[in-house]
Amino acid sequence: MNCMAFPTVTAVQGDITRAEVDAVVNAANRRMRGGGGVDGAIHRAGGPAVLADCIARFPGGLATGDAGWTTAGDLPTRWVIHTVGPNHRAGETDRSLLSSCYRRSLEVADELGARSVAFPLISAGVYGWPLDDAIDTAVETLSTTPCAVEEARIVAFDTATFRLVERRVAEG
Ligand code: APR
Repeated sequence: MNCMAFPTVTAVQGDITRAEVDAVVNAANRRMRGGGGVDGAIHRAGGPAVLADCIARFPGGLATGDAGWTTAGDLPTRWVIHTVGPNHRAGETDRSLLSSCYRRSLEVADELGARSVAFPLISAGVYGWPLDDAIDTAVETLSTTPCAVEEARIVAFDTATFRLVERRVAEG
């Protein structure tokens, strides 16, 4: 597997549950049993098969900064890669944990042979990570992690966020 290249990082606006890629990344929590935001949207759109696989494959949940895959159920993608961001609001402000979410998600994507992966802005919602730094961490980590993934697509939910991501991606 060619692991010497970096993914091409792209920015789009939309609902990540509709992304037509090989794998969609979920902004999960340590319990891995669903939630709000992206987590809620993915479980709603993916259906009960996603939760069943979370329970089967992650009986003890998942650590902050780690990532793991499940079936995508009814989503237009093959896999969901769940990752647990640091909860800034709860005092988890270690940036290396946020960066680890992106790095570990790419590693899992490589294990699966996924060549295109869609990412939400991990921790930038309920978990309250400052938006500019959440975007910076995403673009920086995705564009400097050697792996076989060809496209790392950052999906921004609203226009204002999309503009910020687009500008940061253009800076390289
Ligand atoms: N598609 C793309 N982006 C989305 C979507 C969607 N359908 N829904 C929300 N977002 C954006 C948010 O606007 C934010 O920028 O994804 C980013 C991450 O927000 P959250 O989903 O709140 O995730 P996070 O901040 O990591 O908090 C995780 O929230 O939903 C619960 O169970 C989850 O406890 C966990 C926590």
